[in-house]
Amino acid sequence: MSNTERTLQAVSTAAGWTPDSWRARPAKQMPVYPDAGELAAVQRELQALPPLVTSWEILALKQQLAEAQEGRRFLLQGGDCAENFADCCADVISNRLKVLLQMSLVLVHGLKLPVVRVGRFAGQYAKPRSADTETREGVVLPSYRGDIVNGPEFNARARTPDPRRMVKAHARSAMTMNFIRSLIDGGFADLHHPEYWGLDWVGDAQLAEEYQRMVSGLGDSVRFMETLVGSQIHELKRVDFYTSHEALLLPYEEAQTRQVPRQWGWFNLSTHYPWIGMRTCAIDGAHAEYLRGIRNPIAVKVGPAVTPDQLRGLIDLLNPDDEPGRLSLIHRMGAGQIGERLPPLLDAVKRDGRRVLWVCDPMHGNTESTSNGYKTRRFHNIRSEIEQAFDIHAAGGTRLGGVHLELTGEDVTECTGGARDLTDTDLSRAYRSSVDPRLNYEQALETAMLIVRKRASQGAVAAS
Ligand code: PEP
Ligand code: CO
Repeated sequence: MSNTERTLQAVSTAAGWTPDSWRARPAKQMPVYPDAGELAAVQRELQALPPLVTSWEILALKQQLAEAQEGRRFLLQGGDCAENFADCCADVISNRLKVLLQMSLVLVHGLKLPVVRVGRFAGQYAKPRSADTETREGVVLPSYRGDIVNGPEFNARARTPDPRRMVKAHARSAMTMNFIRSLIDGGFADLHHPEYWGLDWVGDAQLAEEYQRMVSGLGDSVRFMETLVGSQIHELKRVDFYTSHEALLLPYEEAQTRQVPRQWGWFNLSTHYPWIGMRTCAIDGAHAEYLRGIRNPIAVKVGPAVTPDQLRGLIDLLNPDDEPGRLSLIHRMGAGQIGERLPPLLDAVKRDGRRVLWVCDPMHGNTESTSNGYKTRRFHNIRSEIEQAFDIHAAGGTRLGGVHLELTGEDVTECTGGARDLTDTDLSRAYRSSVDPRLNYEQALETAMLIVRKRASQGAVAAS
């Protein structure tokens, strides 16, 4: 297909696609529900419920992602590895929002670019697992696959997949969205009041001081601009916040796939920006089939085993019209492998002239186990993967347009290192993640600052 043909935007649904066409493909990571009738009844119930997001928000995000592809914005995507039902409470939600707002402020200020803010929340309830079953003392039970599927307790009742959990996940996602929307509409994200975003338990760490200095500097420039303009600048009062989750549990996603008045095609209205994970991104698999037919902006996790040809195939399948903002590729190679694995992929996509948003996930390729039995990530590896990603993109003539992080606003000890230099023995103090280790508040803020420093040093090299 020529480039001119490709830039003509699709205006009809992908050939042969329906919301349930994924059912004809091999679907990995799917729970086995004991009662198919109950599953179908739950799907009908979900189909009748109001959507969580709207098509115009989805299209607005796609536009912002298209700008990020061109270097006019930077994507910050972050949140829990897995949300759980018990954490759907005011403090956890608002603390996570505060950290993301603080990080985006650091990025806006340091990169001099608007930031696209996307949470891994309001629906991030399903998890891929490396094994279908778990064995303890000779007892074999289905693996825990996230609160939307089953419970983490090791007994047959909790571990049996229960479709009613999808209805609960939908309700908790709606409550999370509702609270976030109310906070933002009520002025919580107002740049005139970054003091609202302070976290109660943050001490006087050096990072916090650096952040405070930046906030007061920013307050001065806001006041200066407003003095010049002679009135309050209203754009500074609100920010856009979008949601994302892994589109893993396909019966749930299918039930949320809708048509809307005055728009062609189908939208997934449970989230703005679904992605498919490394374990479910096979080109002939059910997840890629599902994703190709919806009009949302979509993302694919790209691990070290993906070859340039496989990536080309995925791009052709998921974005045949080369639509701006449509497809993000989230590379998650690990600090030790990114140098070898990423350049050939960047090169292939660049040579084909395909439009994608490249995003770095420095978390999932850097997970390891400590000798005292914790799953952790070392901050120096996370830092290294981000820094290498910037350098590799610069060397390859491509652009790193965003980061994808697992983080929380809680004072947890799950990743080691960082400003407080947490050690393996600190992990037991506050290890709360039910799946992967997250950056805590300080490590998250430090990550935003290191991105800014890295970009500034690249700019300095380019200018010299
Ligand atoms: C995740 O994002 O939590 C995840 C499981 O990632 P990946 O598919 O990249 O392993
Ligand atoms: Co994870």
